[in-house]
Amino acid sequence: MATNIALLPGDGIGPEVMSAAIGVMKHVAERFNMEIETTEGLMGGCSYEEHGTPLTDETIEMCKRSDVVLLGAVGGYKWESLEHHLKPEAALLKLRKELGLFTNIRPAKVYPSFVNSSSLKEEVILGTDFVVFRELTGGIYFGKPSGYDENKGWNTMVYEKHEIERIARQAFEVARKRKKKLTSVDKANVLEVSQFWRKVVEEVSKDYPDVEVNNMYVDNTAMQVVRDPRQFDVIVTSNLFGDIISDIAGMITGSLGMLPSASIGEKYALYEPVHGSAPDIAGQNKANPIAMIASVAMMFDLSFGMTKAAQLIDKAIEKTLEHGYRTVDINFDNGNLVSTTKMAQMILDNFEIIYHEEHLGVFTL
Ligand code: IPM
Ligand code: MN
Repeated sequence: MATNIALLPGDGIGPEVMSAAIGVMKHVAERFNMEIETTEGLMGGCSYEEHGTPLTDETIEMCKRSDVVLLGAVGGYKWESLEHHLKPEAALLKLRKELGLFTNIRPAKVYPSFVNSSSLKEEVILGTDFVVFRELTGGIYFGKPSGYDENKGWNTMVYEKHEIERIARQAFEVARKRKKKLTSVDKANVLEVSQFWRKVVEEVSKDYPDVEVNNMYVDNTAMQVVRDPRQFDVIVTSNLFGDIISDIAGMITGSLGMLPSASIGEKYALYEPVHGSAPDIAGQNKANPIAMIASVAMMFDLSFGMTKAAQLIDKAIEKTLEHGYRTVDINFDNGNLVSTTKMAQMILDNFEIIYHEEHLGVFTL
């Protein structure tokens, strides 16, 4: 039976990076004998223009009928002054909530050919490889009451026990398969909700005696991520803190245009680049498709257990960068400047080369 993938290209550069990544995805699927069907929907500003709302019930239903969802990017200057619930960002939050995507996974890894492109020194970042587990459907993003009037504005940071437990478990499971080190990030010196978070993580940790746990305040974590990023393996944290820490972590790589993410719940999964819709370069075939292609790699790995396919895509990205191909956002070293479509084509070509090399390797053994 064919695997059904819902595509939400969204706004700005979303459609361009999406179609570049779809080319790679279809090719890889074919190589691994996987049959894929895609359905496409509107989300974000484009949906507002068409339907007067950034996310329709039809789009939500389409996502629920699919095996996984791929999202490009949403938002743009044009829709910034809309009412809160009509903004493209509100659609993203609603979709995360509707699909129950409580775990957001954002890897922070240094591409060796890029080690000079980060704003941080090479000796600080070389070998960095950690992953942020951000809680995505709770905390201050969703807590009630929230609102503002003429005199005040308010939000509520609240976590229920089961919300902390389930993300902590996911993070511990992954830490167990990595370097067995988990850092739980909170603000327990000030916030009661963080004291509770810490208590629940400590309880869960009893089931994972092989994983070393430490607790870190979020302000200190922000400093530590740029001071000595190699100390981290798995970071687990709440929605707002994870939003901030994952952007800081992103700069280790040199550009947000490189960073993939996975949002996973009990039933559904969604993969999207960490970057935004970059309206200033939209429609010009300039955007970096790597974050979207790397998100497809995460999809093969985490949703379909096709770790090999994911590794080959990652290797193809690395090889393309090693050869000096650069999109405009990452051309710090005056490399070979290429378009969105050309970058995706180079990655696909390198995938083919690596795929055949590995196959030949098997046959000549
Ligand atoms: C992210 C973004 C979103 C968030 C916005 C666009 C709602 O910053 O995915 O990190 O704050 O979660
Ligand atoms: Mn963010």
